[in-house]
Amino acid sequence: MFDIHNHILPGVDDGLKTIEGAIETLKEYKENGIETVFFTPHINHPTVNTDIEKIKKTYEELKPYCKEIGIKTYLASELYLQPNKNMGFVPLKDYFILIELPTKIYPMYLIDKIFDLQLEGYEIILAHVERYQWLQDNEKLIEKLKTMNVYFQMNLEYLEKDKYYLKSDLIDFIATDYHGKKRGPIDFSLFKKYENIIEKGKKILKL
Ligand SMILES: [Fe+2]
Repeated sequence: MFDIHNHILPGVDDGLKTIEGAIETLKEYKENGIETVFFTPHINHPTVNTDIEKIKKTYEELKPYCKEIGIKTYLASELYLQPNKNMGFVPLKDYFILIELPTKIYPMYLIDKIFDLQLEGYEIILAHVERYQWLQDNEKLIEKLKTMNVYFQMNLEYLEKDKYYLKSDLIDFIATDYHGKKRGPIDFSLFKKYENIIEKGKKILKL
């Protein structure tokens, strides 16, 4: 099993703070059958300042420990799409991008930005799809995004609350979006319960 969205890489965003904490978390992942982890620190976020060079450096520091634990890791990022900001990011497995968006107001630039990234050869994964108020119940927009081949990721804690996306088979990935203990522990049993979605994601990412 794998996790494509988390803030375990320590000291680089609003997620985990220490390398010890990250090691402890990764050991827990391993014990619960997660063998592959994509680290996805925030990039371009309006309120969380991050530095791509620091992210890369921290990943190099953590890598040997991951190897020791026996967990396969990749560096990626969670790119906050904004209309006019620098678009530096770390793609996920070379040509996927995990994106996040404003939650309350529809980002008018959304379709254009996605299209631009797709023209550059990237495939889009929309992080925590359940969070966007402007997308909920907007079947036309959901359908449009799906027609554009945008993949949807749902956070673990929402799986049991969802009444629409799962039933309509719209979810391609589940992930923890883990920020540390402050937001509660990870319910690893959900990975097993929703294994069909894990399998779907595995095929998309060719893992
Ligand atoms: Fe996140």
